[in-house]
Amino acid sequence: MTEANTHMRWFEDHADHYEELAMYAADFGQRLIDFVDPAPATRLLDVGAGRGAAARAAVARGCVVTAIDVTPAMVRRLAADVPEIIVRQMDVTRLDFSRGTFDTVVAADVLEILEDPAAAVAEIRRVLAPGGTVALSVNGARARWEWLTLLAQEFWPAPGPAPVVDAATPADPAALLAEAGFIELTQRQVAAAVQVPSPSALWELLESQMSMAMAVDESLSARRAAEFRRRFWAGAEHMHAHGGIILDHNATLHRAITPA
Ligand SMILES: C[S@@+](CC[C@H](N)C(=O)[O-])C[C@H]1O[C@@H](n2cnc3c(N)ncnc32)[C@H](O)[C@@H]1O
Repeated sequence: MTEANTHMRWFEDHADHYEELAMYAADFGQRLIDFVDPAPATRLLDVGAGRGAAARAAVARGCVVTAIDVTPAMVRRLAADVPEIIVRQMDVTRLDFSRGTFDTVVAADVLEILEDPAAAVAEIRRVLAPGGTVALSVNGARARWEWLTLLAQEFWPAPGPAPVVDAATPADPAALLAEAGFIELTQRQVAAAVQVPSPSALWELLESQMSMAMAVDESLSARRAAEFRRRFWAGAEHMHAHGGIILDHNATLHRAITPA
């Protein structure tokens, strides 16, 4: 199974809980739309929309929003949750829209998981009207809780992009945009953090919000489960004693336009 197929399966299996698992998604989707600052009635396309973090924020601003995602379960949920959005199942590298259909295209936390991000950027450019805006968010490293990502990767080597395990290497979005002919590139850094009061609260959070990724006793042998718990508690206690348990997320937002 290719890495892309593993991603696909993970998104299909976790669509119902996606924004609980990706705790930063709604906030960063909102901030991506704030960065674009679209006027009401803007024809906006959200690609790889997932549960619609960016699409919902655009609807709230009065945009006319279309969302596409390749994962059927995401498409079903978004269509049911937000009837104002036109939702279609589609691959961002093969968009079924005519040239110049949209004023703005956004992609939140998508580029870094694509096998061919350059093809996606080319398609985005094609469906944008002259002078149209593209905005991408690309998640960065988790400085303070990287240990937990690494620990999860060690115990679950191939679970796909579970939120504690998404250490994908992002493509260089600014270079991709420039190569595709976009101009006036600008960037903004954003960060969000969840403070967790204690190691036991962190365990409870992971059990409740990331239960599928952290099903320790179900997916590991008794010996491995005990080892995971020991290492988890050691890491959490260390974090707690050194500045507190802060689950930090950061992302770079990229914005550019097509020549008029
Ligand atoms: C990390 S999630 C981000 C979801 C949403 N944009 C957000 O910020 O919450 C990535 C999304 O991209 C979708 N996706 C992955 N590959 C895709 C492709 N080739 N075309 C369209 N969507 C894709 C996945 O199904 C998933 O919903």
